[in-house]
Amino acid sequence: MNNKSNKSVGGMEKSLASDSDHVRIFDTTLRDGEQSPGCSMNLEEKVRVALILEEMGVDIIEAGFPIASNGDFDAVREVARALKTSSVAGLARASNADIDRAWEALKDAVKPRIHTFLSTSPLHMRVKLQMEPEEVHQTIIDSVTHARNLCPDVEWSPEDGSRTEHDFLCRVVESAIRAGATTINIPDTVGYAVPEEFSALISMLYNRVPNIDKAVVSVHCHNDLGLAVANSLAAVGVGARQIECTINGIGERAGNCALEEVVMALRTRPDAMPFSTSVDTTIITRASHLVSTITGFPVQPNKAIVGANAFAHEAGIHQDGVLKDAQTYEIMTPESVGLTESNLVMGKHSGSHAFHEKLKDLGYGDLGENAINSAFQRFKDLADKKKDVFDEDIIALVDDTIQHTSDRIKFVSLQVVAGSKGPQTADLELEIDGELAKTKSDGNGPVDAVFKAIKALCPHTATLQLYQVHAVTGGTDAQAEVTVRLEEQGKTVNGQGTDADTLVASVRAYLHALNKLSTKREKTAPEALSA
Ligand code: KIV
Ligand code: ZN
Repeated sequence: MNNKSNKSVGGMEKSLASDSDHVRIFDTTLRDGEQSPGCSMNLEEKVRVALILEEMGVDIIEAGFPIASNGDFDAVREVARALKTSSVAGLARASNADIDRAWEALKDAVKPRIHTFLSTSPLHMRVKLQMEPEEVHQTIIDSVTHARNLCPDVEWSPEDGSRTEHDFLCRVVESAIRAGATTINIPDTVGYAVPEEFSALISMLYNRVPNIDKAVVSVHCHNDLGLAVANSLAAVGVGARQIECTINGIGERAGNCALEEVVMALRTRPDAMPFSTSVDTTIITRASHLVSTITGFPVQPNKAIVGANAFAHEAGIHQDGVLKDAQTYEIMTPESVGLTESNLVMGKHSGSHAFHEKLKDLGYGDLGENAINSAFQRFKDLADKKKDVFDEDIIALVDDTIQHTSDRIKFVSLQVVAGSKGPQTADLELEIDGELAKTKSDGNGPVDAVFKAIKALCPHTATLQLYQVHAVTGGTDAQAEVTVRLEEQGKTVNGQGTDADTLVASVRAYLHALNKLSTKREKTAPEALSA
């Protein structure tokens, strides 16, 4: 796709790792991304995200931190079993227990990778680890050796690498490679680096570490100063050949390098950055939507590549230019990121065959007959209410249907009285474990009345952390996509619901979260007993 580069690397002879102009994409949405508060995903959701990343051509998918919890362990194991072409990485601290647990979760993968790390900056060694540099150095050798005895593919990261003293960084990187690390990942853990300085750091490693050609050099940049993408690209310019990133840039604090931004920058500017990736960029929009709905983290409208306005041209002068020649104001096509022109899909007369074809076009391969039938039924209901049904509507509706197929508590009907005269009331019918249940509640506004009715039918102690409404398309008849975040005994879950009626979408989202909590309770009960 991109041109070949003849550039020398960091002023040095080309290393083995940078011989190719191919940049590996390492996605850590399921590990570093999930570490941001409120961002938790359950096992089934993690597998869905992993499958779309694999379909997209992501080289390595970091599926979690297996020793962190049994949930994380199970998710890494299921992702490891589900993927066929991407490598699956599991994170481990520098201890045998962590590394063994990671290997246990990864060992069924077609391409497993253990990713182990230890802090190396003076501050982290002194305050966090309370270890002397010599002890840190030996622990790195021991942990990488142990990991390599289990797995042929081992990545090692010096946490807080960008604030590590250069002499010490060179020494530990050389030792980690000698101990068997096949990828050396340099993190800018606190998002402190600036591009020139960060690329100089990578060049310095190429210049001073004698065995650097035996490993792939990777970078892992956080976005505290908004420089994660710039720092990652600067590092690639001097020889790094793996970028660690997340969908929508999610992650702790200001997040990680955004996959869609870094990949589209490489694709759009091969003249300035002659490197290629394996990512099929036309899947970006669908992956972004999936991660945003599952995590309840909305994408800001002006976010590069995946924001709702990223390809919108409001100003008359821009619209005029784009109509004459799209290149006047568009540096990439909407199609290149999988945005089909908000094209009218079908109306209420469309049949199931056309619906099946549309699902295929949108990239939904095998949903299974039940999910397709339910989605089709909901499409027909929507087409009855909404004049124009767009691709975005179908994506939201199908994602919503998939999430609700195995729910214990199901929505049946809702009747609401709202308005300024009050009281606002909600008549709600649910199906709970196959039994019909009904109630009527009033509240301080219709949402309050609806949520009280849910609580009356499904008593629980969870507290509401977030209630968020988002319109799927423009227009007053747009579907509402609602996210509800509930917290119970330190566990947080996100529920999503979509419907042309905002209050029905709110019920669906609340029930989705409750269903997830009840699955969590069932799963954690045996552990609680054995603890
Ligand atoms: O930010 C960081 O340093 C990390 C490491 C575990 C790679 O996430
Ligand atoms: Zn990180």
